[in-house]
Amino acid sequence: MKIAVAITTLCLGCAFAALPAAAEGDVERGGKLAYTCLGCHGIDGYRNAYPSYRVPKLGGQKAAYLATAIQGYRDGAREHPTMKAQASSLSDQQIEDLAAYLASVGNSTVAAGGSDTAGIEAMVTCVACHGQNGISVSPTWPTLAGQHEDYLVHALNQYRDGTRTDTVMSQMAATLSDDDVELLANFFARLEGLETTVVE
Ligand code: HEC
Ligand code: HEC
Repeated sequence: MKIAVAITTLCLGCAFAALPAAAEGDVERGGKLAYTCLGCHGIDGYRNAYPSYRVPKLGGQKAAYLATAIQGYRDGAREHPTMKAQASSLSDQQIEDLAAYLASVGNSTVAAGGSDTAGIEAMVTCVACHGQNGISVSPTWPTLAGQHEDYLVHALNQYRDGTRTDTVMSQMAATLSDDDVELLANFFARLEGLETTVVE
């Protein structure tokens, strides 16, 4: 009886989460597709030319967040010419496969030890979603631990200036000062978590 209830609840969840319905991502197929991505994401310290900041680490990032981000570049919610070109030919299924593969790289579930808020006032809010140790607490929210510091600054500034929009983050970032952005990015970048995906 308990099981039946659990399944019913689960399926209600699915119906909401699964519009447009692509089947669950396949790690092996995703690994093959990811080959072209690693030309940038697989080179440690590789930089976006202008403005200059390091290409984000994807290894161990949350799968649902990865899928949303890639769809965002493809469908126009996110602006970046190269990433748009990369994503433009991908189907929803291929995006799920890529997300499943990238999320499976490394071990970003490591608990780097519960950190405190490092004396940064704004941090209290951030860790509610992005996790005490920078490992996000939901598959739809990105892990920040170990991400490149200059990419985190870039992302936060994009939410601040409206280049990148997200109902939650636009609001969060609006109240941050330049100093807050530097401190927060530095804090999360130094935690153990995300990895550069490398060709094996
Ligand atoms: C030519 C270099 C290049 C290639 C190839 C490339 N990317 Fe990217 N990718 C970038 C850059 C630069 C950014 C940061 C863009 C921005 O500022 O929004 C990015 C951002 C992303 C993000 C957002 C990460 C985050 O934390 O928000 C995802 C996901 C992503 N890429 C996935 C892929 C996938 C999947 C492929 C292969 C299909 C790919 N990329 C190929 C350069 C590249
Ligand atoms: C209610 C949950 C929530 C809170 C609180 C929150 N975030 Fe976020 N954050 C998100 C979501 C959801 C996204 C992905 C948005 C998108 O798709 O662009 C995100 C994205 C980000 C990104 C971009 C990551 C990447 O890989 O591109 C950064 C950086 C970030 N948040 C930092 C912060 C900081 C710093 C704070 C505190 C001031 C904060 N967040 C508070 C939910 C939250």
